[in-house]
Amino acid sequence: MSRVEVECKMEEGPLGKYIIVPKGLYNVVPDTTTISGVDPKGEHTIYRGYTIADIGEHASFYEAAHLFLYGQLPCEDELREIKRKIDTYRGQVPEKIFDALKLVPKTHPMYYGSYGVALLGQYYAPEWRFDDDFLYEHALRLIASLPVIFTAGWHLAHDGTVIRPDPNLDHAKDVLRMIIGRMPSDLEARAFESSLVLYMDHGFNASTFTVRVIASTLSDMYSAVAGGIGALKGPLHGGANEKAMQMLLEAKEQAEKAGKPLEEYIEEYILQKLARKEKIMGFGHRVYKIHDPRTDVAAKFIKQLPEGEYWLKVLKKAEEVMWREKKLPANIDFYTAVLYYQLGIPIPMYTPIFAMGRIVGWTSHYIEQVKNNKIIRPTEKYVGPTGLKYAPIEERCKK
Ligand code: ACO
Repeated sequence: MSRVEVECKMEEGPLGKYIIVPKGLYNVVPDTTTISGVDPKGEHTIYRGYTIADIGEHASFYEAAHLFLYGQLPCEDELREIKRKIDTYRGQVPEKIFDALKLVPKTHPMYYGSYGVALLGQYYAPEWRFDDDFLYEHALRLIASLPVIFTAGWHLAHDGTVIRPDPNLDHAKDVLRMIIGRMPSDLEARAFESSLVLYMDHGFNASTFTVRVIASTLSDMYSAVAGGIGALKGPLHGGANEKAMQMLLEAKEQAEKAGKPLEEYIEEYILQKLARKEKIMGFGHRVYKIHDPRTDVAAKFIKQLPEGEYWLKVLKKAEEVMWREKKLPANIDFYTAVLYYQLGIPIPMYTPIFAMGRIVGWTSHYIEQVKNNKIIRPTEKYVGPTGLKYAPIEERCKK
């Protein structure tokens, strides 16, 4: 039986028959969604009916955010409205949030993101409601505020300054400007924007599922997003783009020492790592077993940015080796790692950028979950001991 055709077992449990599903919920469907998912052949991710490649290549951040939240691409007046709101909210992060971020120890920006969002929830969440106007307003506020919090955290930890948002710029251009500290070119801004759109959603991935679990308890959206950031941070999920770039830079350094071109040395480097049973970050995926279509869109932008041809040769060689050795495809993180490096983005901001895109999916899933809710609460199969009796401490540890 292949890993995809896993079998569920039925056993007798406290609520009658219970289903034992594969570890890691492999190939398990806990609910339906109309937001995004992979087509039955596992070739394309569908964003509300469109392929991810189509939307990733053509849609602006605002258009894609509208598609996710409201289910359709916007008309002109709708586009103006969502742009106005996101740009305005980007400039409205309360000053006290910056003050709070200044007080905490210098750390990875993902931490600033999770507690910055939780703090933001203190402003809005205590009066939490579930009517449409309220939910959509807060989804947009979160989408707009998260990049401001991440970039403030990054700069505060480095030079103690905060680069303020400019509501007159387009969202993606302004966010990239805040990260790199200079005005990006139109090409740079569009490459960055496309990566945000490619990251926006992906079915019931680990962080989105985390958000849905928190939403299912009818907690507020800010708490759910803070949880999503925590799940995304792990190296098996969003943290992989940072690890992938660290790996490529280590390989580059070793190649230079060995006097070999990286596109040739990368094979040796990967084989050594595989021999040590190490994972190659940026490869493998729970759903895409042959090809991750998001890499094609990212590759188009990598090609147009500095040293694009060189990096594409390195990526293609790594993919060839990994397919030959492990039958594993590269995932989006392997490509965005290089794209962000070309844009001059500091590596610890790579996973926060993933979150700046994924927050559109998180907030859309939060709304879908609470609109048709049942608390997500699986049952465990207890396999520990039974029948033990409490003993006072003086009797408990007698030798
Ligand atoms: N390098 C080396 N071996 C790997 C890798 C890798 N990157 N990925 C999977 N494998 C191995 C597994 O160890 C497993 O081996 P085994 O059968 O001997 O135990 C085998 O390939 C099959 O793994 P899967 O069952 O396909 O993987 P799973 O669905 O459980 O996990 C995951 C998917 C977590 C993405 C995994 O491939 C991985 O750890 N990749 C590296 C981290 C990474 O790039 N994460 C980003 C994911 S995409 C995203 O978040 C946008």
